Amino acid sequence: MQENELKRYEDIGNWDFSDIKYTTYQETNWDFYDEIKKHANSSSLLLDLGTGGGEKALSFLPDVGMIIATDFSREMIKTANENKKNYPNKKIKFVCMDNLKITFPEKLFDIVSARHTMIDAKQIYNVLNDNGYLVIEGVDKYDCWELKTLFHRGQAFHDPIAISKIDYENIKKAGFKEINMQEIIQYEYYETKEDLLALLLKTPILDDFSKLNTSKNLHNPSIEKDLFDKYVSTHTTSKGIELKRVLYAIVAKK
Ligand SMILES: C[S@@+](CC[C@H](N)C(=O)[O-])C[C@H]1O[C@@H](n2cnc3c(N)ncnc32)[C@H](O)[C@@H]1O
Repeated sequence: MQENELKRYEDIGNWDFSDIKYTTYQETNWDFYDEIKKHANSSSLLLDLGTGGGEKALSFLPDVGMIIATDFSREMIKTANENKKNYPNKKIKFVCMDNLKITFPEKLFDIVSARHTMIDAKQIYNVLNDNGYLVIEGVDKYDCWELKTLFHRGQAFHDPIAISKIDYENIKKAGFKEINMQEIIQYEYYETKEDLLALLLKTPILDDFSKLNTSKNLHNPSIEKDLFDKYVSTHTTSKGIELKRVLYAIVAKK
């Protein structure tokens, strides 16, 4: 159902959450961008897959020799090129490309990064230099689990095997030598219910983009008010409305 997913991202056209008011408490001491920094130097060639509107890549990816940042959505790449105007010194090029059909030459990149996007481990292996690194952060099956249980649906809710395990196995099968996987737990606190709703309407947390029925109105994913209100009333804390995020990190060396 890649077409549905592409259509949804084309419609959204950015991955900017700066209008949503929330704070984050990190329970796990791991940071995607710090991990990339560890393996990068001033001459590294870095490939960032599924970069969205480049919001994070432009702000947080380290200054290396050159960053190539890709996304299969033309709208996202258009936004990324607009956003780039605010970062005139960043050595980054945005390219429209499907992560599952990578056309770069073999062994071109020193590092491949992929945050919250689809990957094909074998294709990444092929474009990485010998001893190159892959750094992934993904959204796992048990992300926002209490919310998904209440709605009885959502991203990966019905998956028999967690996405993290599938990625790990595929990375191993692709031939990577050293692979480290870890769970990342973080708590997000949304200032108001409108802030939480804005998140849920924009992301695939409840309406998994790849599993949407084509007959459904893709612009208006439905959020049942009674269930939403129930979640808000049972998860309101002094810090805001709590959402427990469960992510996974994989760092692999070729
Ligand atoms: C959840 S957003 C993450 C954006 C960015 N990596 C970040 O962390 O802010 C996922 C992005 O991956 C892109 N994407 C999803 N599947 C893709 C694929 N098969 N090939 C290329 N891009 C893809 C979407 O268009 C979207 O921009």
